[in-house]
Amino acid sequence: MNENVIYMKDIVKSYKMGKNKLTVLKEISLEIKEGEFVAVLGPSGSGKSTLMNIIGCIDISDSGEYKLAGKDIKARNEDELAVIRNKEIGFIFQKFNLLSKYTALHNVAFPLLLRGMKIEDAYTRATELLERVGLGDRVDHKPMELSGGQQQRVSIARALAGSPRILLADEPTGALDSQSGSEIMNMFLELNEEGNTIILITHDLEIAKKAKRIIHVKDGKVYE
Ligand SMILES: Nc1ncnc2c1ncn2[C@@H]1O[C@H](COP(=O)(O)OP(=O)(O)O)[C@@H](O)[C@H]1O
Ligand SMILES: [Mg+2]
Repeated sequence: MNENVIYMKDIVKSYKMGKNKLTVLKEISLEIKEGEFVAVLGPSGSGKSTLMNIIGCIDISDSGEYKLAGKDIKARNEDELAVIRNKEIGFIFQKFNLLSKYTALHNVAFPLLLRGMKIEDAYTRATELLERVGLGDRVDHKPMELSGGQQQRVSIARALAGSPRILLADEPTGALDSQSGSEIMNMFLELNEEGNTIILITHDLEIAKKAKRIIHVKDGKVYE
């Protein structure tokens, strides 16, 4: 039996809007095990990104229990959260969030250099990762010189760079045509076969169906 990478119990999250309080997550309980490929599916505004921010230690809940890889997240401060986030999570965003002035190779090597990896090793590893995502012949291209699907593959390589415990993708196909989107989904399937744990957030049922498990978010609650 694999270990839980995500354990949530009765997670509540609300936003204060002036005098009002908008409760977005209402006592969510959730367990995700190492090696799973899970889609979190829900309509726009249902709280998917709010949930992702908590899973990714970008934000913390108002109440409830959250353990990431066995570590209790609630009790930690900003700096500690950043350390956990950098170590445990590889983020992939709808709009890629690549550095536009830098080549694919630099974009993937940067997080490794920030972690203190030696320059030569960082570039070797970045090259291997770009080859892994099928961009071995595009390492010197800047984001603008790549298609959307290729840019997303660079961001997957960047997310993989730190060997994170979880790949966390928020609408990763949202900015892509259906052909590129389905190529990206096939890449996630391959990466999952290789043992990566993937949590993918989407409003698109067709995309979600490619994952091995679907968690529905509706009215602040989750359903299997
Ligand atoms: N920082 C914020 N402050 C106030 N309200 C927010 C904030 N972020 C999100 N919301 C509200 O919370 C709800 C859920 O948002 P979000 O988690 O982004 O949903 P989704 O990603 O499913 O579209 C929405 O009604 C949104 O307007
Ligand atoms: Mg969202």
